[in-house]
Amino acid sequence: MSHPTKIGILFSGSGSNMQTLAGHIAHPDVPADLVLTISNRPNAGGIGVCQENNIPCTIIDHKDYETRAAFEAQLDKTLRQAGIEFICAAGFMRLLTSEFVGAWQGRIINIHPALLPKFKGLNTHQRVIDAAESDHGCTVHYMQAEMDEGAVLVQRRIAVLADDTADTLAARVLVEEHQAFPEALDLALENLRKI
Ligand code: GRF
Repeated sequence: MSHPTKIGILFSGSGSNMQTLAGHIAHPDVPADLVLTISNRPNAGGIGVCQENNIPCTIIDHKDYETRAAFEAQLDKTLRQAGIEFICAAGFMRLLTSEFVGAWQGRIINIHPALLPKFKGLNTHQRVIDAAESDHGCTVHYMQAEMDEGAVLVQRRIAVLADDTADTLAARVLVEEHQAFPEALDLALENLRKI
């Protein structure tokens, strides 16, 4: 694949990972173009980030759809109509079914705020503290049908401090996420070119 890969970014929240990726993709030496971002939440903070930075953003509110399948059908249609070739789930808080992920197998990556395979699911920071873990961090991985499974691209690790709270831990992990995701995207783009 010689042309720049057309990227779509999915987000649900503040969009700091989306914004970080947008900045990275804008570098001329990154063989990708950011074509579209999609939020499933109409009040996501990341929408404002897109408006302030002229990043294309579409809202597909999952609450507008009777079923998960109908929401995903619209999501898939929007991505394909935009010519998207690769998806980054950047703080996207909707579980995607195996049908959707299967249709994008090898072309969709996700960031998870924990050192997978440990601490899959939600509230990872508090769970890490409750488990008295010495380390924590984030993982960028290929998505596959089962939640938070899939081959790992990048992990970044931090020490858990004695006085850490879920909030202080989340803030330090987020800094690592902003390093890990661009690194992982570069690796995934290289892998695409090997196909
Ligand atoms: C981050 O902790 C990320 O790991 C999780 O959502 C949080 C906010 O991410 N998925 P962002 O600022 O919306 O990228």
